This record gives sequence, C-alpha cells and structure tokens, in this order.
Amino acid sequence: MPSNFAASFSRVALSATIRLMEKKLKLLTYGCQMNVADSERMAGLLQQIGYTLTDDFDAADLILINTCCVRATAEDKVFGQIGRFKALKRLKPSLILGVTGCMAQKEGADLIKRAPHVDFVLGTGQTSEVARVVESLERERRHVVDTSNVSGEIPTEVFPLRGGQVSTFVPIMYGCNNFCTYCIVPYVRGRERSRPPEEIFAEVRQAVAEGFKEITLLGQNVNSYAGGMTFAELLTACDKISGVERLRFMTSHPKDLSDELIDAIANGQHICEHIHLPVQYGSDEILRRMNRVYTVEKYLRLVEKIRAAIPNVSLTTDLIVGFPAETDENFSETLDFLRTVKFDAAFTFIYSKRSGTPAATFTDQIDEATKHRRLDELMKVQNEISLAKNSALIDSVVEVLVEGASKTDEKIFTGRTRSNKIVLFTHCDERAGELVRVKLTHAQTFLLKGEIVRA
Ligand code: SAH
Ligand code: SF4
Ligand code: F3S
Repeated sequence: MPSNFAASFSRVALSATIRLMEKKLKLLTYGCQMNVADSERMAGLLQQIGYTLTDDFDAADLILINTCCVRATAEDKVFGQIGRFKALKRLKPSLILGVTGCMAQKEGADLIKRAPHVDFVLGTGQTSEVARVVESLERERRHVVDTSNVSGEIPTEVFPLRGGQVSTFVPIMYGCNNFCTYCIVPYVRGRERSRPPEEIFAEVRQAVAEGFKEITLLGQNVNSYAGGMTFAELLTACDKISGVERLRFMTSHPKDLSDELIDAIANGQHICEHIHLPVQYGSDEILRRMNRVYTVEKYLRLVEKIRAAIPNVSLTTDLIVGFPAETDENFSETLDFLRTVKFDAAFTFIYSKRSGTPAATFTDQIDEATKHRRLDELMKVQNEISLAKNSALIDSVVEVLVEGASKTDEKIFTGRTRSNKIVLFTHCDERAGELVRVKLTHAQTFLLKGEIVRA
C-alpha cells in the first residue's frame, strides 16, 4: 500500500539521515576520578545530540579535553596535547576543539589567547552546558569562554555514558572548603556542595542496572557530606541497594573521618575495607604550614582506631615532598612516620607551586634536585613497606572482583581484592564482574599473583 511504502521509505530515509548526522567525539580526560565522572556526564549529554565516542583523532568531529591543573606537569601535558591538534584542525576546519575542567576554569580566556584554534573553554561549573555550546558552534563558529558558576548548582538530571564495565564512580559532592595551602582545587572547583541522597541512590541504582558491580562514591572530602544525612548514613544506605557488590569511597580528610564512619565500614556488608587517607606529610611543622589541621600524633591515633575496629583494613595515602622550607630533619621525620604507619600503598608527589595558592608565596622554595632526591628516597622506603605488606598476604585466600584479561597476556586475568590490591590469576572461564576466590602465591610491590580456588 502506498501509505506503507511511504512509511518504510521515510524510515529508510530517516536512518540514512541519522547515519549521515552521526558525529564522532574524541574525549581526553586528565586528572582525578572526579574528572572521569565529569567526562562521562559530558559524553552522555553529547550522545543526546548525536555524538558517538571514537578513539580515532582523525575521525573526530569534536575533540574534548577535560583537564587537570593540580600540578604543573598535568598542565604541561594538556598544553602539549592542544598544540598537537593545531595541524589536525588545519586539515579539517569543521573540527570543534573544546577544553573543559580545572585548567579551563583556571586559565579561562587566556587559553584561547595562547591557542586560538581552541573553539570553546568551559569551567568546572559549566560542564552541563557542553551540548548546548557545541550545538551553537555547529551552527556558527566563534570563540566561547564560560568559567562562571564555579560554586554553582549541581545538575539534578544526569545521563552519564559510563566507561569500563565493572566499576564506576558516583559523585556525592563537589568542591572543597579546606584550602590546604599548596592546593589549587578549592579555587577551580569552588565551595562544597552536596547532592541530595535520593539523587545519589537513583544514580547508584542506574549504574547497577547497567551492570556495574562496584561503586565508588566521590568527593574531595566525603566526610563533610552535607546532603541532609551524614556520610556514614549515606554509605550505609548505599550498601543496602540491591546489586551493589562492592562499595568504595574517596577521599577522606583525616581531620573529620568520624567514628560513625569507622563503624559503618566495620559493620557494612559490601563496604570495602580500604581507606584512602591522605596524610600529605609526616612532620607537624609542615602539616601546620600546609593547613592540614591535624598533627602526626592525631593521625597515628586515628590509624590505631581504624585498625582496631576494621580487621584487614588497608590504608593508602598521598604524600608531597619538597614543600617550601622542608628541612632534612622534617623529611627524615616523614620517613620514620612511614615506617611507623606502614601504609599498604602511597601516591607520592613532588610539590608543585600553584600560583594563587598561599604556599606559592612562601619563602625557601626547594630546588628541583633536592625534591627529586627526596621523592626517590621516599618511594624506596614506601616500596619496601608495600612489598612486605603484600608478602604477608601470601597463602591467604581473598575475594577478587574480576575485571577482565590483563593488558599484556590474554590468558591472565586481573581483578582487585576488597582491600583494593591488584591480583593477577590464570583464568578458567571467569567473566568480568564475577566475584572469585583466589589463593595468593606471589607478591610484588604493586600487585599480587594467585590461583583460583574452587568452592
Ligand atoms: N581532595 C583530595 C585530593 C586532592 S588532589 C584530598 O584532599 O586528598 C590529590 C593529591 O594531589 C593530594 O592529596 C595531594 O597529595 C596532591 N597535590 C595537591 N596539590 C599539590 C601540589 N601543589 N603539588 C603536589 N601535589 C599536590
Ligand atoms: Fe586540596 Fe586539601 Fe581540598 Fe584535598 S582537602 S582538595 S588537598 S584543599
Ligand atoms: Fe581533580 Fe586535577 Fe581538578 S586532581 S579536581 S582534575 S585539579
């Protein structure tokens, strides 16, 4: 019948049009988990206006760089990357190039001055505007810069296009009020704002429905969550959401990790026994000048309390060497501190001067050679501790959440323990997302190896 013919013709025409309209997005994400979560949200919005993800720069109609500025090295990487897209843009003038995230927030219009081939710059408070801005640039080319709204409202409706398949992030709050003197984050992420619990629960349920087994709740300092319940209550409520196999959170500031939270972890069912508890340094003098508001003694007491309440807890940390006026004595105190606490792992950074932060104006900035020497020494001490900690686990049987084949060998699978340690094992038909039991047989500094244990 003619009407049927017309309908099927228009269907064919429509699908051809959609194919023609299909646009490719190349997304580059730098920085922390919060940026990963923001990128997934932006990808979700861009999908709604016809973009699909690609790995191929040459095929991209839109390249989005979601940036970090926590250290100078993070910024250098981004500037290098932006520079490389200049030639690409000359070959394909229709290409749209956007810069978002923390460095976009910090640099604003200066970014376009330095790299005029960038089409738009959106700050951290504007990520939900990305699709609107891109659509307007598709119609008419001009430069768009918007870094307003840094402490603004958090979008209530989100449609993240999540990467990975087993583990994913759910932000519970944005911003930071702590103003550690070295840190740029409060300036580029604005003041603390918490999402209402119902929105968080809905997002966790949505992630579970998509097949994710492990959820990490994110915030710069989750313990100051203020969405109408305490963080411990929020965590306990998420623990009860059906289908959540593992629940993690980061980051905790030692100044306000509560007894209530320790109890919640100890009594939780899916809450993993791992706390990332950045100490930053191991000497009171430096901690005070960093504005960390705790002492070494207070931190040590907190660690004791956590370890007494949560058997097998793993503790990881962040440390900065080369803070202004750091002395050899301060540094050796920090090495002693590491030997006392015995962290499972530590992320170690060289202090990077961030203009606009108080520490940038402190006198006695440390020279690069000393910073590097101290970093090497710190890592050496911590690596020995990490190896000893992992070696102590040999012969134990642990629960591993399977992530999939390892990057280097298809026959070897990788997964993580509840304590967040990486485990490699020879697989026998396990699938990503399954929980298996593995007997640990070998320990290295950054991972463990083992064999699957059947029933
Ligand atoms: N909100 C989290 C993470 C902040 S950024 C927290 O408070 O722990 C992640 C880490 O980067 C910090 O823990 C700190 O160790 C490091 N960092 C922040 N600013 C830095 C700087 N200026 N130089 C070197 N490392 C820095
Ligand atoms: Fe930066 Fe300190 Fe805030 Fe962490 S708590 S984001 S280190 S200011
Ligand atoms: Fe994260 Fe870097 Fe911003 S660490 S909050 S992406 S400055």
